[in-house]
Amino acid sequence: MQTIIVTGGAGYIGSHTIIELLNKTNYHVVSVDNFSNSNPQAYEKIRSITKKKFDTLEVDICNEALLNEKLAAFKNSAGIIHFAAFKSVPDSVADPLMYYHNNNASLLNMLRFAKNNQIRNFIFSSSCSVYGNANELPVTEETPLKKAESPYGHTKQIGEDMIAFFCKANPNFNAVLLRYFNPVGAHMSGEIGEFPITKPNNLLPIITQTALGINSLTVFGNDYDTRDGYCIRDYVHVSDVADAHVKALNYVIEGKNKKNISLYNLGTGNGVSVLEAIQSFEKVSGKKLIYTVGPRRDGDVIAVYANNTLAKSELHWVPQYSLDDMMLSAWKWQLNLEKNK
Ligand code: UD1
Repeated sequence: MQTIIVTGGAGYIGSHTIIELLNKTNYHVVSVDNFSNSNPQAYEKIRSITKKKFDTLEVDICNEALLNEKLAAFKNSAGIIHFAAFKSVPDSVADPLMYYHNNNASLLNMLRFAKNNQIRNFIFSSSCSVYGNANELPVTEETPLKKAESPYGHTKQIGEDMIAFFCKANPNFNAVLLRYFNPVGAHMSGEIGEFPITKPNNLLPIITQTALGINSLTVFGNDYDTRDGYCIRDYVHVSDVADAHVKALNYVIEGKNKKNISLYNLGTGNGVSVLEAIQSFEKVSGKKLIYTVGPRRDGDVIAVYANNTLAKSELHWVPQYSLDDMMLSAWKWQLNLEKNK
């Protein structure tokens, strides 16, 4: 049985991806996580949803010596899916060095681990933040990257460049860079979602917490040059994003890739304003959301959404879930978290 190493497997997208891997493939999975922004309970939830086994290791992958020691048993793995990273735009603006260290040192260590052990397949979590304020919408994979609006986005631009140069120097190494737009929602069972360790910064958990009165939503600006003045994003269900990883992994392991580095936008293609997201939430939850409008947030791009034709045609990835599904599943998960407090 081939082994797949998943870094950040207890995290939000990592945990949903392990569910898809266990449900849809025969790979043996080992998750590597230090729980810096995740909760070991995610592993129990994965086991109860899938009724399948997988291995877990608690390691900070920024520590290369420890990484090599703990992962020694998995040197013959068939592939690595590298999620482990920090992902808050505002935190990265406040502490850029923490972001460069955590996101780029961990990637460097994982690439070196792959190189030293001839692990040939690598899937990387990138982000639409690499486009900055793009010149065209929707963005395709060919759209030129503008200056990143935040250190977070810059760590992803650097990460993509590191992998591209590494692929050029190592023709036998295959990488797939997945540019996520805005992954939201939770597994449709409502049994697993994002475990907030600290106060969340992303829109969806703040919306669902606000609906329960345990947070208060401030919308960051409604005076943008968009159709209703609110920022526009491409929200995509986390289980659809997870499914794309399984497809990307199979694609390179089965040798279907034409080049040794491939790049895909993972978005639904629908630009949704913050106001429209709020309205969808209100519709599916039946709750009126009380919020205030504040100033713009530093590091925010104005509008971004994906052209996802390439992922559809090459990976045969078709997002299954609607905006309402995203909202409903996020709400189910929030209610579940509250119930089990
Ligand atoms: C960014 C990245 C995305 C990445 C994510 C990880 C971009 C365009 N996208 O998402 O690829 O996956 O970080 O965290 O850089 N908002 C409010 N009030 C709040 C919180 C958010 O109005 O309290 C608004 C933001 O201004 C934005 C939208 O909601 O317009 C989404 O914000 P958020 O969920 O934080 O994600 P991004 O920063 O867009």
